[in-house]
Amino acid sequence: MPPRTRGAKEVLVDRDSVVAKTQEHVREHLTGESSGHDWWHVNRVWQTAVQIGSEEGADLYVVQLAALLHDIADAKFHEGDEEIGSRTAADWLRSLDVDEPIITHVAAIIRDISFKGAGVPTPMPTREGMVVQDADRLDALGAIGMARAFAYGGFRGRVLHDPDSLPVMHATVDAYRSHRGSTVNHVFEKLLLLKDRMNTESARRIASERHEFLEHFLRQFFAEWDGKA
Ligand code: ADP
Ligand code: NI
Repeated sequence: MPPRTRGAKEVLVDRDSVVAKTQEHVREHLTGESSGHDWWHVNRVWQTAVQIGSEEGADLYVVQLAALLHDIADAKFHEGDEEIGSRTAADWLRSLDVDEPIITHVAAIIRDISFKGAGVPTPMPTREGMVVQDADRLDALGAIGMARAFAYGGFRGRVLHDPDSLPVMHATVDAYRSHRGSTVNHVFEKLLLLKDRMNTESARRIASERHEFLEHFLRQFFAEWDGKA
């Protein structure tokens, strides 16, 4: 008898079940997380990544696995271990017998996805990586982005705003990660920079509207702060 080879249909079924098992695993792991990296954040990034990925002609299998696993373990919460997310994701995918080149690709996306400071480039060499990075960054913009920033600031014990301290444009990831500024300054140090750092045309369109909302929010915030609104 010839060795059994996998038919195209079987591979498709396999892929659906890998995505479904990964979704379940991540949901169990991140439900109730309160720093803004909860399951619902991942769910939004997943949906947005599929939408942008379809428009951009990306491989949606890689896109979905990277989107679902991108916050499974975060360097910020593990003494700056920059490899922890990609390692944890790779271990999970290996337990499901996912093909090694797919694992390598997904792990590389997760390793490189994060914003690391205004002056630190975060290049993404593949279309799939560009899509997932954009989807993650879109969730840091708009009303949800603002809500997440203040949730994160509260989680870390940061002040809302300190009129005596100016935003800092960080030149290194260490300077960015160790900074303990206000949440309003974080909006200047990261969120307002994101629209010009989108990789894809599809994301740029969404980012531009969400960016306008951030500006509108800040104008109102400062007007209220100064007793002028
Ligand atoms: P990335 O998605 O690029 O990895 P993070 O995980 O650092 O970014 O950020 C996730 C969310 O937490 C974002 O919405 C971000 O704005 C918010 N956040 C990160 N650092 C801070 C901070 N110092 N103050 C307020 N919000 C923050
Ligand atoms: Ni994220």
